[in-house]
Amino acid sequence: MTGDPQDVPAESLTPELAKRELARLAAEIARFDAAYHVDDSPLVPDAEYDALRRRNEAIEALFPALVRPDSPSGRVGAEPASGFAKVTHSRPMLSLNNAFDGDDVREFIAGIRRFLKELQGDPAIPLELVAEPKIDGLAVSVRYEGGNFVLGATRGDGTIGEDVSANLRTIENLPLAISDGAPAVLEVRGEVYMTNDDFAALNRQQEAAGERLYANPRNAAAGSLRQIDASITAQRPLRFHAWDEVSEQRAGTQWEALQQLKGWGFEVNPLTKRFSNADELLQFYAELADRRHALAYDIDGIVYKINRLDWQDRLGFVSRAPRWAIAHKFAAEKAVTVLREITIQVGRTGTLTPVAELEPVTVGGVVVARATLHNEDEIGRKDIREGDTVVVQRAGDVIPQVVSVVAKKRPRASRPFAFPDRCPQCGSRALREEGAAARRCTGGLVCPAQAVERLKHFVSRDAFDIEGLGGKHIESLWKDGLIGPPGDIFRLGEHADTIREREGWGERSLENVLAAIERGRTISLARLIYALGIRQVGQATAQLLAKQYGSFDAWREAMEGAEDRESDAFDDLVNVDGIGPSVADDILAFMGEAHNREVLDELDRVLTVEPYVASEAAASAIAGKTVVFTGSLESMSRSEAKARAEALGAKVAGSVSNRTDLVVGGADAGSKAKKARELGVEVVDEETWLRMIAGS
Ligand code: IVH
Repeated sequence: MTGDPQDVPAESLTPELAKRELARLAAEIARFDAAYHVDDSPLVPDAEYDALRRRNEAIEALFPALVRPDSPSGRVGAEPASGFAKVTHSRPMLSLNNAFDGDDVREFIAGIRRFLKELQGDPAIPLELVAEPKIDGLAVSVRYEGGNFVLGATRGDGTIGEDVSANLRTIENLPLAISDGAPAVLEVRGEVYMTNDDFAALNRQQEAAGERLYANPRNAAAGSLRQIDASITAQRPLRFHAWDEVSEQRAGTQWEALQQLKGWGFEVNPLTKRFSNADELLQFYAELADRRHALAYDIDGIVYKINRLDWQDRLGFVSRAPRWAIAHKFAAEKAVTVLREITIQVGRTGTLTPVAELEPVTVGGVVVARATLHNEDEIGRKDIREGDTVVVQRAGDVIPQVVSVVAKKRPRASRPFAFPDRCPQCGSRALREEGAAARRCTGGLVCPAQAVERLKHFVSRDAFDIEGLGGKHIESLWKDGLIGPPGDIFRLGEHADTIREREGWGERSLENVLAAIERGRTISLARLIYALGIRQVGQATAQLLAKQYGSFDAWREAMEGAEDRESDAFDDLVNVDGIGPSVADDILAFMGEAHNREVLDELDRVLTVEPYVASEAAASAIAGKTVVFTGSLESMSRSEAKARAEALGAKVAGSVSNRTDLVVGGADAGSKAKKARELGVEVVDEETWLRMIAGS
């Protein structure tokens, strides 16, 4: 017999080889488990993973004396952490937009100069920015009352996080009491992270103890902080560094806020600097990009923030990211490896996405075994073939990509990749719409991949947030016929006894999932709309729809009305700023399908859908009104005026119609003001407008 024991059927293994095989399988499966559960990025297709587990079990059955103490059969995945209380953040914790090159940074600054009227057209007026290295850890918010630490929470979905106070208390460099001059209530935001040396030492320790390894310092920090048992967190070398402060008596600038935080005993990144234009920022960026590998911790970019906090407040947010800050990412890390095979994944909306199955390779500290190839044209353009040696890259938490092919290394027998014209999951035809890059499966609900992916989306964090109900669970519940359409999720409890018997479910994990499902029965309209997985309707669009229509019933009724493209309801829909005809088409296509309407009927029966509440704004004079701006305003730019109006609960439209409530006319208001008067719509000047929004 020749070659590897892994090619030998279980029945033909000698005890010696069986022992080696069990060791190999334990290591492989642990590695794949870690990638799946800790890194959230599976390294192998499920079928391959399942085959490894089955082989492990077969060998164990033949050689019971050789079963290892760390045998994968004794362990079923990694328990997802849960059981933390939920905490609603006093102010949402948002994310950042990215800049990838100098042009993006210049445009970021130019945009701010356009938004702030007093900076318009005068490059001589200084615009100071603070540059903070962006440590790749996890964001938390910590609260102090009367100078004492009282609460700490993870970012969660940005609105609601998890109470990890007990765990945060164990972090050595996080002050538990602030002596001097702390405000009565202080919230500090920052990053929990691990240095590279501490990360390596932790992994060595984990390995020696037969515990799972972490993929990178970020995951190690996240995994360590989210331990149910805080005494484990206490043994982990976590650090905290502060980058933001929320309190009644905030400093005047970001820079002062950071100095104050330092004074109160918080670690603030010492490389943080102030600059006054894009050239300076870019020079700093270049310097840091050179030095970053010599730092004790990973940074994945630099965050630039407008220094003046009053300007930050005025600039505000666009959907989930501030206008006043941007993350300038470092270039992607690259590596060379062999592309073994191109597989096709079918997504929730039926898109066929080609995936490169790679010889695993380390890229910037993380093992990469799969990379996206985007679509058919991309494969053609780069002429990527199975068996090719390829350059792969990954940047931050972005999905790894195949950049190019190393032509010299192409095997002689290689052939261009033939993209399938049928769905590999259900065999339906896969078509390309005109102008679209993606080929889509036409199977709709008969396609198991689409059904399952839709369910995964439905329960995901920003949708119903059913924690603990992972992709693998959904797949097996679906396969066993225990769930079909999304409404079935809310009937899972009826199958509790059946489910409990299955592999992958501990007693406690099922209880937790059922509890999360019960919590999910009450949901905001925006989350529900997002959860439906309508093409092009992400969180921001779902939010716009919720805001426009207010309640589930009103939304459904309006969408039914909008099916008639001549109707006011249709006009209203396409006129929602940020929606437009293409998104409207996708929403109406969704609503046009009978099975989708059945899903909505069913959800209506089992859920309590909370109507949209305009947060800051309900009481403002312009809440709920449709406002049109025309002409130029003296005191603020058009963008700022629009942002203010929206923050106060108004809708801003581009043109005047009989559904306009208010037209704000600047100095040179022209035809729009005229049309408004003809239609009998109220027209106000800038001064009146400022009074209307004052004090809110
Ligand atoms: S400010 C509203 N500053 O980056 C502004 N974030 O992509 C919110 N991060 O969740 C973020 N260093 O985990 C900010 N100096 C810094 C940061 C930083 C790291 C992380 C943070 C946040 C993510 C946003």
